Amino acid sequence: MSATIAESTKETAAIERRVEALLGQMTLAEKIGQMSQLNASDANAPDYLGDALRAGRVGSVLNVADVEVINELQRIAVEESRLGIPLLVGRDVIHGFKTIMPIPLGQAASFNPDVARDGARIAALEAASAGINWTFAPMIDISRDARWGRIAESLGEDPFLTGVLGAAMVQGFQGDDLAATGTIAACAKHFAGYGASEAGRDYSATNIPENELRNVYLRPFRSAVDAGVTTFMTSFSELDGVPATGNDFLLRQVLRDEWSFDGFVVSDWDSVRQLQVHGLTADDRESAYMAVTAGVDMEMAGDAYISHLEGLVEDGRVSVDTIDTRVANILRIKFELGLFEKPYTDPSRLPPLVSDDALQVARQAALQSVVMLKNDANALPLSKDSISSLAVIGPLADAPYEQLGTWIFDGEPELTITPLASLRDQLSEEVAIRYVRAMETSRSKVSPAFDEAVDAARESDVALLFLGEESILSGEAHSRADINLPGDQAELVRRVKATGKPVIAVVLAGRPLTLSNIVDNVDAILFAWHPGTMGGPAIADLLLGVESPSGKLPATFPRVVGQVPIYYNRKNTGKPPIPETTVLIDDIPVGARQTSVGNTAYHLDAGYTPLYSFGHGLSYAAFRYDNIRVSPAEMSVGDTVTISADLSNDSDVAAEEVVQLYVRDLAASVTRPIRELKGFKRVLVEPGQTVTIDFEIDMDDLSFFGRNMQLTTEPGDFHVWIGGSSDTELRSEFRLVNSE
Ligand code: NOJ
Repeated sequence: MSATIAESTKETAAIERRVEALLGQMTLAEKIGQMSQLNASDANAPDYLGDALRAGRVGSVLNVADVEVINELQRIAVEESRLGIPLLVGRDVIHGFKTIMPIPLGQAASFNPDVARDGARIAALEAASAGINWTFAPMIDISRDARWGRIAESLGEDPFLTGVLGAAMVQGFQGDDLAATGTIAACAKHFAGYGASEAGRDYSATNIPENELRNVYLRPFRSAVDAGVTTFMTSFSELDGVPATGNDFLLRQVLRDEWSFDGFVVSDWDSVRQLQVHGLTADDRESAYMAVTAGVDMEMAGDAYISHLEGLVEDGRVSVDTIDTRVANILRIKFELGLFEKPYTDPSRLPPLVSDDALQVARQAALQSVVMLKNDANALPLSKDSISSLAVIGPLADAPYEQLGTWIFDGEPELTITPLASLRDQLSEEVAIRYVRAMETSRSKVSPAFDEAVDAARESDVALLFLGEESILSGEAHSRADINLPGDQAELVRRVKATGKPVIAVVLAGRPLTLSNIVDNVDAILFAWHPGTMGGPAIADLLLGVESPSGKLPATFPRVVGQVPIYYNRKNTGKPPIPETTVLIDDIPVGARQTSVGNTAYHLDAGYTPLYSFGHGLSYAAFRYDNIRVSPAEMSVGDTVTISADLSNDSDVAAEEVVQLYVRDLAASVTRPIRELKGFKRVLVEPGQTVTIDFEIDMDDLSFFGRNMQLTTEPGDFHVWIGGSSDTELRSEFRLVNSE
């Protein structure tokens, strides 16, 4: 046994002894108190929660972010309750506390675990200085439906990317030592399947066959467990008829029995009592029974546990053992956090909020998250040498609050640097900027201000439009059925285009949008998501060519909303679409007869391709991929295989490129997707340089859940691709053979 493993085994044993000892002293009421999380949203919380805290009836609070209030709550719990058990203080610190990083979907576009890890590290440091010791992040729900408002909080559509970045976030929040100053507990949410809500309507039912659940939706959660995440949150949604908060298959069979998770599970907000609203139970008492027996350790912001668990134990329906297990799960994390030793927060022991380091991390994250979707005739970057005037137009050029995105309870718009401010700063005297907001909000309609915008464009060398969605149009309970640019933005684009001036669109949004109605009217598009506090400087650097865009899409962009769900790692079907058979609606001869021969899977009015594929993202550099090879071409069970390709930069611009590896298992006992991301690397390539990129994959990387729901790797032929997007054509292959 190595020294560190021995050390941590000893620590684990010591914690288990402390948990046992404490449990032994607790009354049933005190145990149930630990299972209750209450809302503490204002400075009066010590008054209205004081009695419950003194009686040991509260294990955790949420929604408080004031260090003095938190210290007072802790003081009451520690000094005035019988057993002095400190509180878990939870908060939605989703993509930053004071320093706001890009929304998680934007961070995912960086394809860079360091971005995710560093962003979470900064968020933890800042939140910890307020006394918060637990965040409800990362959200690792696979999201293949851009209508769903919460896609903004997700890491996109791909299980592998979400798994890698989600694990990095867990490491960023929790660090190496949960008890260290400045680390906080993370929470993998929402377990499970939430992203598959019907029609992208938040909170709606999900129906996911177990095989797809295991191969797609559960994978990132497994990665979070492997990364040591300490808590899980259940989903609001039901899965195949059983709401997640009462789902013992998810919470007991998968999470505890198969994955050996030893942290604790919190419900979502009042979702225990919602079991009755779902129609699973008749009343709150049954809801408490269902949740506690399924495996929910702590109830968030409801009173089903506190009101009914004691009675359920007295009636013999819930055993004391069950309660002890739930409470032990919670106490274990309190011990691991070092809360018994250090319940109070002294902010002076932590770095100041919004430090230079934090701003630098936020700027880097924003920079790497922006995706250049289109750049006709090198419309970008803008060169100070060739333009002397610039029209900056649109509702999101100077909207400090909106660019922060959803879930920024503690973010301060006053700290935001907007694109307009940065452009003014960077262009100073050299380029005359004419700013016309044109639309009060992203939802505004045509107004006389459109004429002003057109005049500004006409009188300038280039028109730069800042379009998109205000932050409130995405996030929880903010789903949209129409994912075009809202309001009359497309009309604004049309009118500006009519001036004949080059038109550049920068889109700030919380989701993939359908851009078909503007794409032909703009020369270039930078898709910047909601980029956070430092979005302005990052966008300005990209527009002006100080940096090259390097983000890649973490979610497919449909042409029209009716294509949703559309994602790259789909199944082939028995009738895969090909260009030759894809006849679009206007090309169907009048009176054409129905035929059942040669038909394939596509939409008459949209074809089968998206507007922009997963992994797509352009650069100012000209990247060329070639010479893909695999070694060995025949892989034996237990071996690894190396897949390599050469990446050349045929331009005079140094730039980073996200190189992606995709695999297809051609024949398997359960059909496999047409491509699956299995690796990615962000590499800097100098002008004229050629670098060789290697990926190694092993049996585990090729494994999937088969018909019996067991993980398996089956011998046979595999195709592999390397390239700069999921539609790369650079392919090779290898065979996995059975001989050892
Ligand atoms: C409801 C949301 O679904 C969840 O993600 C969040 O963490 C909790 N509310 C707490 O605010």
